[in-house]
Amino acid sequence: MLDLLGNLERTHANGALRAADAGAHVILMGWVNRRRDLGQLLFLDLRDRTGITQIVVDASADPALHAKASSVRSEFVLAVVGRVVKRDANTINKNLPTGEIEVAAEELRILNESKTPPFSPAEDATSAIANEEMRLKYRYLDLRRPAMQENLELRHKVALAIRNHLSAQGFFEIETPFLTRSTPEGARDYLVPSRIYPGSFYALPQSPQLFKQILMISGCEKYFQIVRCFRDEDLRADRQPEFTQIDLEMTYPRQETVFAVVEGFLKAAFAAAGVELPTPFPRMTYDEALRRYGSDKPDMRLPALADVKSAFSSDAVQTLGLDAGLPLVAVRIPKVGEVSRKERDENRELFSAKGGAKVIDDLKRLEKSWPESVAKVRAASQSAEGDLIVLVGGGARADAPPAELRKAETAVYTSAGMLRSELGRKYAARHGAFDGDAKESSSYRLTWVTDFPMFEWDEEEKRYNAAHHPFTSPHEQDMEKVLAGRDLDSVRALAYDVVLNGTELGSGSIRIHRQDVQSQIFKALGMTDEEARARFGFFLEALEYGTPPHGGIALGLDRIVMLLAGATSLREVIPFPKTAKAVDLMVEGCRSNF
Ligand code: AMO
Repeated sequence: MLDLLGNLERTHANGALRAADAGAHVILMGWVNRRRDLGQLLFLDLRDRTGITQIVVDASADPALHAKASSVRSEFVLAVVGRVVKRDANTINKNLPTGEIEVAAEELRILNESKTPPFSPAEDATSAIANEEMRLKYRYLDLRRPAMQENLELRHKVALAIRNHLSAQGFFEIETPFLTRSTPEGARDYLVPSRIYPGSFYALPQSPQLFKQILMISGCEKYFQIVRCFRDEDLRADRQPEFTQIDLEMTYPRQETVFAVVEGFLKAAFAAAGVELPTPFPRMTYDEALRRYGSDKPDMRLPALADVKSAFSSDAVQTLGLDAGLPLVAVRIPKVGEVSRKERDENRELFSAKGGAKVIDDLKRLEKSWPESVAKVRAASQSAEGDLIVLVGGGARADAPPAELRKAETAVYTSAGMLRSELGRKYAARHGAFDGDAKESSSYRLTWVTDFPMFEWDEEEKRYNAAHHPFTSPHEQDMEKVLAGRDLDSVRALAYDVVLNGTELGSGSIRIHRQDVQSQIFKALGMTDEEARARFGFFLEALEYGTPPHGGIALGLDRIVMLLAGATSLREVIPFPKTAKAVDLMVEGCRSNF
């Protein structure tokens, strides 16, 4: 038989009571975290999102109450009326904030029972629950766990800090529609059928891009929104089909104006999580990022690539089967120690050549033939005892046209970059080579990457794509090339990313505000006038009514919280996420609708 709540009202949360409350008469509510039966004495740990209070029931004081307490199981919901008592010195639990007291129960109401849960919400360590599918199916039990409650709280605090900061800077939060037209952000749209126009569909926004630009044309000056976006794309640990952006736009900004706003709100968000973030963040161009880190998402916790070509004579370069016209760089992962032959064999895929690049992973062997060269490599890459060094160069090739050579050069850098991040992921964390510990500001290395190329050539479609999106402004110096439609490969965009520890947190740009430039970009992307009018006619028209220069950015809130929580998947910080197959296992995906 269950009890009724009646007129009981809780006086304290379960994490609240301290030694100073001894003697107080209290009413607590919560789940039974654990029950321990020690004969005469029975202990119940009562849990809510704030913590745990130990309840003690003494059979000698009240045999009926003790019998009732004996019947409760884990996850039953109780109301407990009792008195706070100080624990004896030898029973104090230093691991609990409430560990100096317990509540001697006088009355106990069983408000609800629970089936035996498939895993225990008392389990704090996520790694202890082997089956993630089970966690997602019984998400309400998973979310009861303290670790998940902490993530939800962190997410709330981060979002609130950002909202408050931007509001104080004069940004208005303005909502934009969910039932709208397709937005080109490179994924597929989720569609919603229209009842009134059978056969027609609304598209859910991949981002509020065009609406926020229209808000600038509307005179809003500074807009932001913490907004859900929808993208049908292949999912990964850092990609969900619906996710949340911190989206903003402003009029008359230079790139630096946008950077300062982002640095300001990230500083506030990190402070809310107890991390002091140094600002301004370093800036580097896309070209620099490629050459120094082999990636446009550099993980700055690891050393940069070192250019070591000059360490080898041309004879050595030839003997090693390297192309003298291509770069040779050293990837250094600190403190790894030697990677054994067995490990090397296991990692064959990692150390194998990609895209024409050549990987030399056994420096010891190289040292036998070219000791001086290897000494120079060690010096150039600032190597210390126990560091792992791998060389990446271009495989020998016949003379190639300059465009081919450029591609091969990029392949050397990106292969080195991939190796650097893979080896980093595999070894550096294990060997403590990443600078800093979680919660220290040095563990969070942010950087801006600027001057992205404007266009990317799509070999399959035989046309250019916008590297960011088609509303991004080219550099003013490159505008002539765009208007003349020539040399598009070398056009730089006023586009920028903010990157944290190898993850892209956000992307933005200064926008095109002139209708003639926008039309020209659509043309460069292979769109006819008719196609451009059909897809973006409303926007092209809006551009003709006095559009001010404007620009902005969007950051992934989920990614920020994931990194702050020290998690490796967005599923840890999104309350009701989807699996890699885009289903919510709790509500059993989308199938029930069809
Ligand atoms: P972009 O497409 O780069 O830019 O998105 C901005 C940021 O949103 C986050 N993000 C995602 N997070 C989780 N799951 C996903 N599937 C996902 N896709 C994107 C990333 C990313 O950096 N309208 C432009 C912004 C602008 O130009 O102002 C845009 O949406 O953190």
